[in-house]
Amino acid sequence: MRMPLIAGNWKMNTTLSEAIELVSEMRPGLDRIDNVDKVICPPFISLAVVKELIKGSSIKLGAQNIYFEEKGAYTGEISPVMLADLCEFVIIGHSERRQYFNETGDIINKKILAALRVRLKPILCIGERLEENEAGRTEEIVTEQLRASLAGIDYPGGLIIAYEPVWAIGTGKAATGEQANETIGLIRRNTAKLYDERLAQALRILYGGSVTAANANQFINQPEIDGALVGGASLKVTEFLSIVRQTSEIKGHLSKGV
Ligand code: 13P
Repeated sequence: MRMPLIAGNWKMNTTLSEAIELVSEMRPGLDRIDNVDKVICPPFISLAVVKELIKGSSIKLGAQNIYFEEKGAYTGEISPVMLADLCEFVIIGHSERRQYFNETGDIINKKILAALRVRLKPILCIGERLEENEAGRTEEIVTEQLRASLAGIDYPGGLIIAYEPVWAIGTGKAATGEQANETIGLIRRNTAKLYDERLAQALRILYGGSVTAANANQFINQPEIDGALVGGASLKVTEFLSIVRQTSEIKGHLSKGV
C-alpha cells in the first residue's frame, strides 16, 4: 500500500525569519495529522534551521534542487552529500528549473543518480507545456521525460514522481482530477515497462499545479494519485493544513493497509 504524501514547495519565498515563523505555525497542526507523509521544501538557506525546528515532529524535510557533483569548484552549487545530512527528499527537474535554468533531460538524469547515490529521495517533476497539451502530445512528452530522467538507473529506490502540467503551475488553472489520474496512470504503466510491476505499484506519484484546499479532494480521490506537490498554497498555514487533513481523511486508511 502506498503512503499518501503531500509536499510543500516553497519555491523562492520566505526569508530565514519568515521560514522560522511559517514552520513554527505549521508544526502543531501538521503533527496532529497521521497517515500522510508531510514534507516541506524551504529554500536552501533555511534548511538547517527548519531541520532543528521540526525535530521530534512527524514533518519531513526536502530541498528544491541539487547539483550532481559531490564537491569542488562549482561556485554557488549545493552537493548531494551536503543535502544528505540535512534532509530526506529533494525536488528534481521542476519545470521552473527546466524553463529558467535550462535543465535538460541529461542534467536531470545526473541529478537523480546523484541523489539516489546518497539515499536522498528524489521527487522527480515531469509535465507537458500548454502548447504540447493542446497538440495532444501529453503522453509522448511525459513518456520521454520519464525515460530521459531515469536512463541508466538500475532501480530507483525511494523515487517519487510529481506530474506537474506546466500550464497548471501558478496559473490557478488546475487540471481536472480525471485528466491528472489518466496521465498518472500512464506514468505508472511506463515505469512498469521500464522496471517492473512491483516498483510501479509501490511508486508514489503526485499531482502538482494550482492545488488548493478547495480543489485538493478532486485529486486525492483519484485512485492513481498518491498526493500533491503544492506551491502557492503551501505558504498559507490553513490552506496547507487543510490539504494534508483532507488527504489523511480520504486516503489515510490505505497507508494502514485497510
Ligand atoms: P502552484 O501550486 O503554485 O501552482 O505550484 C505548483 C508547483 O510548481 C509545485 O512544485
